[in-house]
Amino acid sequence: MLYPVKRLIEIIEEIARGNYSNDVMSLTTEDNPEPVRNIAEAMGMMMVKVEAREYELEMMVERLRELNHMIKENTIKTVSAMAHALAARDAYTEGHTARVGELAGRMASHMGLDEETKESVRLGGILHDIGKIGFSDLLFQAHEGRNPPDMVKEIVRHPGLGADILKDMDFLGTSREYVHSHHERLDGKGYPRKLKAKDIPLGARIVAVADSYDAMTTDRPYQKGISPAAAIGKIREHAGIRWDEACISALQAVLEETGVI
Ligand SMILES: [Fe+2]
Repeated sequence: MLYPVKRLIEIIEEIARGNYSNDVMSLTTEDNPEPVRNIAEAMGMMMVKVEAREYELEMMVERLRELNHMIKENTIKTVSAMAHALAARDAYTEGHTARVGELAGRMASHMGLDEETKESVRLGGILHDIGKIGFSDLLFQAHEGRNPPDMVKEIVRHPGLGADILKDMDFLGTSREYVHSHHERLDGKGYPRKLKAKDIPLGARIVAVADSYDAMTTDRPYQKGISPAAAIGKIREHAGIRWDEACISALQAVLEETGVI
C-alpha cells in the first residue's frame, strides 16, 4: 500500500479512538496524492467541528452546574424566609429552628446519610414547626403547665398543617415528610398519624431528637433550660419508646465532637 494511504488509515484509526491530533494536516500538503489530500482536509475540518461542539457541550454542562447551584441557594433562601416568617410570630422559634436544622444535619452526617438526605434533614429541621404559623396568638403566649384540650387540638395539627403548606414545593424533597412526622413516637403514641418505629422516616426521627434536645436545653419564660448532659440522660430514658436509639447516639457523638459535653 502507498505510504500516504497507510499513514492516513493509521491517523483515522487514532481519531476513531478519540485521540485528536494535528497529524492529519501533514497529509494535506502538495506532495501527497490528491485523494489522500482531499480526505485529510475533510478529516481536519470534521475534527475542528467536533472540537467546537465538545467545547459548546462543556460550556453547557458548566452553565447547568451554575443553575443547579442557584436552585440550591434559592431553596435555602426560601426556607430561611419561611422560618423567619414563623419567628416573627414567635420570638422563641427564631434561634430554635436554626439550631435544630444545624444539629439534625450534623446528626444525619454522623449517621453516614448521603449529602442529599443530609440536606433534606437539615431543611426539615429548619421547617419542622412551620405549621405553627397559623396558630392563634394565644398559643404563642408563654404559659406553664398543661394546655387546655382545645389548645391541644390546635397544637397537634401543626405537623400536618406544615406538610400542607410545603406540599407543592417539590424542591424540598423528603423534608416535607420529616416536617409531617417530627412528633411521631416509636411506640405509636405520637401525632398526627400515630406512626410506629420504622414507619417513621429516619429523617423525622433525627429531627425529633434534635428538636426535643434543643427545647430541653433552652431557657424559656416559664422554664429554665437543663444542661446538655442532663438532656441526653433524659432523652435516653425514653430510648426505643419515644426516640430512636441510633439517633440519640448520633446526637451524643455530635455533642462530644463539638465539645458541648
Ligand atoms: Fe413541633
